[in-house]
Amino acid sequence: MELDGQGAPLWRYWGPLLGKAAVPRRSIREERPTPSFSLDLDQPLSVFPTFGVGWFEQSALLAHRQGRRFEQFFTQCDVEWVVAGRSVRLRLRDALAEVAVIVSLKLDDDALTLSSELTNLGETELDVQWLAAGVVPLPGDADVVRSYGGRHISEFHPQDDRLHRGLWRRENRRGLTSHDNFPGAVVTTPGCTAHEGLAYGAQLAWSGNHVQTIEGLNDGRFQWQMGVWLAPGEGFLAPGGTLASPEMVATCSMRGLNGVAQNFHKAARARLNWPTGSMRPRPVSFNTWEGNYFDHWLDDLKAQAEIAAELGVERFVLDDGWFQGRQNDRSSLGDWWPDKSKYPDGLGPLIGHVRGLGLEFGLWVEPEMVNPDSDLSRAHPDWALQIPGRPLITARNQLVLDMTRSDVGDYLFSRLDHLLTEHPIAYLKWDHNRDLTTAGTSDGRAAYLAQVSATYALLDRLRTKHPGVEIEACAGGGGRIDLGILARTHRFWTSDCIDARSRVEIQRGFLQFLPPEVMGAHVGASPAHTTSRMQSLNFRAATALPGHFGVELNLRGLDQEECAELKSWIEFYKTWRDRLHSGAVWMGEGTDGLVWQAHGDVEAHEVLLFVTRLDPQTLRHSVPVRLPMLDHPSVYRVEPLRSGASAIEASGAWLASHGLAVSPMQAEKCRIYLLRRGA
Ligand code: DGJ
Repeated sequence: MELDGQGAPLWRYWGPLLGKAAVPRRSIREERPTPSFSLDLDQPLSVFPTFGVGWFEQSALLAHRQGRRFEQFFTQCDVEWVVAGRSVRLRLRDALAEVAVIVSLKLDDDALTLSSELTNLGETELDVQWLAAGVVPLPGDADVVRSYGGRHISEFHPQDDRLHRGLWRRENRRGLTSHDNFPGAVVTTPGCTAHEGLAYGAQLAWSGNHVQTIEGLNDGRFQWQMGVWLAPGEGFLAPGGTLASPEMVATCSMRGLNGVAQNFHKAARARLNWPTGSMRPRPVSFNTWEGNYFDHWLDDLKAQAEIAAELGVERFVLDDGWFQGRQNDRSSLGDWWPDKSKYPDGLGPLIGHVRGLGLEFGLWVEPEMVNPDSDLSRAHPDWALQIPGRPLITARNQLVLDMTRSDVGDYLFSRLDHLLTEHPIAYLKWDHNRDLTTAGTSDGRAAYLAQVSATYALLDRLRTKHPGVEIEACAGGGGRIDLGILARTHRFWTSDCIDARSRVEIQRGFLQFLPPEVMGAHVGASPAHTTSRMQSLNFRAATALPGHFGVELNLRGLDQEECAELKSWIEFYKTWRDRLHSGAVWMGEGTDGLVWQAHGDVEAHEVLLFVTRLDPQTLRHSVPVRLPMLDHPSVYRVEPLRSGASAIEASGAWLASHGLAVSPMQAEKCRIYLLRRGA
């Protein structure tokens, strides 16, 4: 960055690391004469461009005071180093517009974390329409932006758009992170592949409405902005009021998309807040949902827990259906005490049984929701987000509680606190099964933004009181996957689609941004409940294996052979989970329908490789799979695991350039190899 007199520092460069000596001492303005039909005040991209005084491209702030003071232009910039050369706070001030902005930038390893905070210094209300969390430059040859979206049971579909001189924009107005628009993207330059070339990535640490834009600039570069999408009125700042953005985490790599993913994984790992300070091996989970839905029979659940224990499961999660009156999805959300007909003596007997078998106990909750048909709603019909005169629009028969109300927050805290205090519950699965609409508070103001902050506050309050409890973030599967909620939780339920074939793609999208140890991945039933496709237990288990592994089917329906097979997969997961959940992940595509994924230490001394065939082979012979991340001069021993085939030895150069020969495979099959680097 270049200090620009009093204004916000100018962006000179963001890219692969440069030596200090490489930076020219000349100002960017000295390098570019004023073109024709241009203002004499040249304004290159700054870290916080503002509207109305010479900047024509997207600004980081849009605000006014009752139609006046629509422009901002900083008159003061104080640089405050938090850590020299690594973390800085830029204190910007515009004396005329009477606003102060703090732009924070922090560089950890390869992750650049940006955020901004705006304060209204004036004596009238300031109406803010846009406040960017961060603004970063992209080079002029930035070529394609890949963003991700989809829908419930079909998350993380990549969407490639060619960048151009105009504006690329993606917005989410669903109130929570959403299945539809993941708050992040990756950008490639020409020739960039999964493994090499210059790639960039950024994601917003926020679980609500969001915007991301990439705009072509006059000087050939691009600027990338992210921030919260503000509903009308959400940016009203009273005199002295402050609006703080969430963090934008950005990175770049010369090692292509995998380099970006690895940097993101490191950044996400640094944000995770584990109960004991560091991650313990991710326990094998058993979740009751797809195997039982709302049918909870105590003896039956106990029997399933016994089988789970026998198979090596370590955590039993009682999903939806346990609380008062909950027979289906039409009632009872909000009434967070055990259903008397299903659990006449409360949850104690089941929890005692599960723990007696040596398993942890986890419980599903959906705190932010209420069914109109519930005691809670009957007692407090005004607690749901609503706008007088507008229809109350339900989704899955439920409404959203106004989390900004202190009585709502206190009620939810007391119910959850009671459950966690009363019982040895080690884990909560925290669900959120609808988008937000008519999200108004009792005084008629939009509550989208405040709703997210209030949910974070409830999570923080609970975690302070119960620091040992792990939490899974779920919103109909992958509707709330982001770095914001990650700082308060320990696992994502990646998708309600457990069809292994669909999961391969969903998980690859997830892994572009977040590490495998927080990616909930289960062995589901065959046929899969959401697609009716049939898959072998082998394929289902191998696909779930790299993530935080679990089982979600009725174990009483398995025969002896299936139980033995599942047990051996659970043992296998336990053997390899440390390797799977630390270090680097590489993803690649082979020719003719093969995809692969490798987990290993960053130096690729030891790598666990998964080669998956999704569709039938079209060529007579299968094409070797190239593994470019291997060290060329080293010799690797490649051992096929869980197969009778014998190991081979080959140089890294051979495996990277010629590739690993993979014998023909049928569709929906996965092979696993262990690669160990020798001399
Ligand atoms: C949606 C979740 O994604 C499922 O796993 C399950 O917990 C259901 N909700 C329960 O209603």
